[in-house]
Amino acid sequence: MKKVQFTETVLRDGQQSLMATRLPFSDYEEILPIMDQAGYYSMECWGGATFDACLRYLNEDPWERLKKLRKSLPHTKIQMLFRGQNILGYKHYHDDVVEKFLELSIINGVDVIRIFDALNDFRNIRSSLEAVRKYGGDRVIASGCMPYTQSPVHTVDKYVQMSKELVSMGFDTISIKDMAGVMSPYEAEHLIKGIKDAVGDVPVVLHTHCTTGMAYMTSIKAIESGLDVLDTATSCFSGGTAQPATETLFYAMRQYGYETGLNETALNKVNDFFKPLKQKYIDNGVLLPKSMGTDAQALVYKVPGGMLSNMMANLIEMHAFDKFEAALDEIPAVRKDLGYPPLVTPLSQMVGNQAVANVITGERYKQVSKEVRNYIKGEYGIAPAPISQELQDKILGVGNTPVDCRVEDSKRTGEDFRRAQDALGDLCRCEEDVMSYICYPNQTISYLEAEKRKQENVCTYSIEPIVN
Ligand code: CO
Repeated sequence: MKKVQFTETVLRDGQQSLMATRLPFSDYEEILPIMDQAGYYSMECWGGATFDACLRYLNEDPWERLKKLRKSLPHTKIQMLFRGQNILGYKHYHDDVVEKFLELSIINGVDVIRIFDALNDFRNIRSSLEAVRKYGGDRVIASGCMPYTQSPVHTVDKYVQMSKELVSMGFDTISIKDMAGVMSPYEAEHLIKGIKDAVGDVPVVLHTHCTTGMAYMTSIKAIESGLDVLDTATSCFSGGTAQPATETLFYAMRQYGYETGLNETALNKVNDFFKPLKQKYIDNGVLLPKSMGTDAQALVYKVPGGMLSNMMANLIEMHAFDKFEAALDEIPAVRKDLGYPPLVTPLSQMVGNQAVANVITGERYKQVSKEVRNYIKGEYGIAPAPISQELQDKILGVGNTPVDCRVEDSKRTGEDFRRAQDALGDLCRCEEDVMSYICYPNQTISYLEAEKRKQENVCTYSIEPIVN
């Protein structure tokens, strides 16, 4: 029997896409035992923006959340999204920090780690893979993930080539991440067939978003072309900027004669549970109707929706909205000059802001941000295609070339960890706190100070016995 499996995303990308990751653990704790029986390939419920949102907005310890998830999901693979050398942020961390973060993630219960680099520079995911092997052995699945983008250099052949490279590096599965939801059914067919032919038995996973309306057609075509795992969200948290719906694809694929391993009763109980939660967040304004609709403009302009709205806001702020069309035309030119980076955060903002600067000043690259300079220096990794020589000479000086090593290569000493531990002082309770501080220092300090105050109050006033 033909087979396809599903990764449920409601607890990570579903809620991240629709309601800016504001879903607290306590809201969904109760449904976890049912989700544990649903038969998902995995549940994506940690990493991505959940870590930051826990500390910044929800007054939750992300590590505590992970421990509780592990306890409530004894039969389900817990999956996290990991930005390779960027961990869960946007700057590059040293290898020892990356390794420690993954060691603690694995100790606390993660089973599947999807690892990507915004530029598809695989040097930036190698240390993560090594750490997963070191601490997870064969138990933990390392998924090599490629952000999907469209450009003259991002051909099917290129993605097939990259998949082979990921397999030879030692990744267990290959995932394709279409963050803007722009992959068409036609592209999915050629891409998935090409990759499956090249990698043989290695499972291939597709992650996409409904943003432009392509996702259902693309998902079906991908499954017909041999896809092994698809990311979906329970139906009330699906659609719009989130993933396609779990139940819908379950019913569709069942008719096609596919074995999914899913438990229909559990799937429907899960959706019934999340419906009133969704309504609560619509009512209090956290979940905006805008994120629930379909918007095909990303297909028209070939840039992600978030990048367009960001650009419009910038132009309005500068009282230069009349330059919108010119800035739009400038985007492909800037992207070409920069060697066609995938338009994913933070590169999408960098390209958008540069296009705006080029048309506002009336002279291309008269103003260049620190981020774009660092990118041209090679600090983000290797661009997919060569950067314009003229631009490179202008930024680096004639005759100078970008760095060809990774900026992290120089250091692997544990120094960052010790410094963070010192900075936390007596607020530090465990190694996990140190990692939180390294990733999000201010948020971690505020969280731990609040915890400490709570603790002191408990010690002074509580008469409850101490239970271990
Ligand atoms: Co996503």
